[in-house]
Amino acid sequence: MSTSLAWDERFSGGDFQFGEAPNRYLEELRPWFSPGMRALALGDGEGRNGVWLAGQGLSVTSLDWSQVGMAKAADLAARRGVALTTVVADAAAWDYPEAGFDLVAWIYLHLPPVDRAAAARGVLRALAPGGLLALECFTPAQQGRRSGGPKMPELLWSRAIVEELFGELEVLELLEGTVSLDEGPRHQGRAEVVRALLRKL
Ligand SMILES: C[S@@+](CC[C@H](N)C(=O)[O-])C[C@H]1O[C@@H](n2cnc3c(N)ncnc32)[C@H](O)[C@@H]1O
Repeated sequence: MSTSLAWDERFSGGDFQFGEAPNRYLEELRPWFSPGMRALALGDGEGRNGVWLAGQGLSVTSLDWSQVGMAKAADLAARRGVALTTVVADAAAWDYPEAGFDLVAWIYLHLPPVDRAAAARGVLRALAPGGLLALECFTPAQQGRRSGGPKMPELLWSRAIVEELFGELEVLELLEGTVSLDEGPRHQGRAEVVRALLRKL
């Protein structure tokens, strides 16, 4: 079972495990983002995605249960000269503010099913009308590949899980398939993912 301490240990070296550049899918979605949007980078690790969003002029809350990850996120934000609010919390138990965000970035956050459902409920509450959810996660086809992802199959995502958890959101994009990852030492090579861009009506 993954724990915050295990992630603290992974993040405790000087390197950024997934690089300092943002997730490529999130970067591709840039035309959807505009300065002033309130963004939540969920399970933001060492902050590469939250910091990039802040650099686009968004007002960003970066949340992760790893204290070490959030400290590195704050350092990265300082290095880039952007404002970032960091929160050390369990994504499955956080008190998500009602309509508090215009964008939630759920990038490679893999939770046990009960926690995943709780976090999804929180995200649905936290999205303001018109708010976007951008998600990229590994699918079961990733098992056996060496380009990253959780070992426990129940943590993996699928198009069907996105539809089940976020069925009330409008689908702008929802794809499952093979991509090529080049995101730090931990995400390298061909990978099997689901990508979604969803909007609260
Ligand atoms: C694969 S890393 C991805 C980090 C970041 N999203 C990125 O793309 O660089 C998964 C992250 O999820 C975080 N995480 C896992 N379970 C969590 C939970 N229950 N609450 C908050 N963060 C969690 C880990 O600490 C880790 O930072």
